[in-house]
Amino acid sequence: MSVDWSALKAAALAVQQRAYAPYSDYRVGAALLTEDGGIVTGCNVENATFGATCCAERTAVFSAVAAGHRSFRAIAVVTSGAEPGTPCGICRQVLAEFGGDMDVLCFTPGGAEQTYRLSQLLPFAFTLK
Ligand code: THU
Repeated sequence: MSVDWSALKAAALAVQQRAYAPYSDYRVGAALLTEDGGIVTGCNVENATFGATCCAERTAVFSAVAAGHRSFRAIAVVTSGAEPGTPCGICRQVLAEFGGDMDVLCFTPGGAEQTYRLSQLLPFAFTLK
């Protein structure tokens, strides 16, 4: 299945508008492409304790799993700032749990973008195997 990047980026941009980021003002939107061609989104949700904050990528993965999806083809992540931010280490590990070697597109609303394979971002991911 080829990836409709424009649809995935549009979904990430739409959900970035819902980011709850009153502490950092760093807004992140993530759109996951499921194996059956669906799109599941997530935004970052911050908390006054800071530590209870959840990143956009994990919000998307957890929503997708709750909706019955466990296999993903790609993810598009849009971030605030001049340069596209890449998923944090915890999110890389969470993506690796379900993702196989998915494509990861990181971009800004201003047009900067970079693509990776998840195995590039997290070589030697932890497994219990
Ligand atoms: N954030 C994400 O949503 N994804 C990442 O991969 C890195 C960081 C969020 C967490 C926090 O709300 C804000 O960006 C600043 O760290």
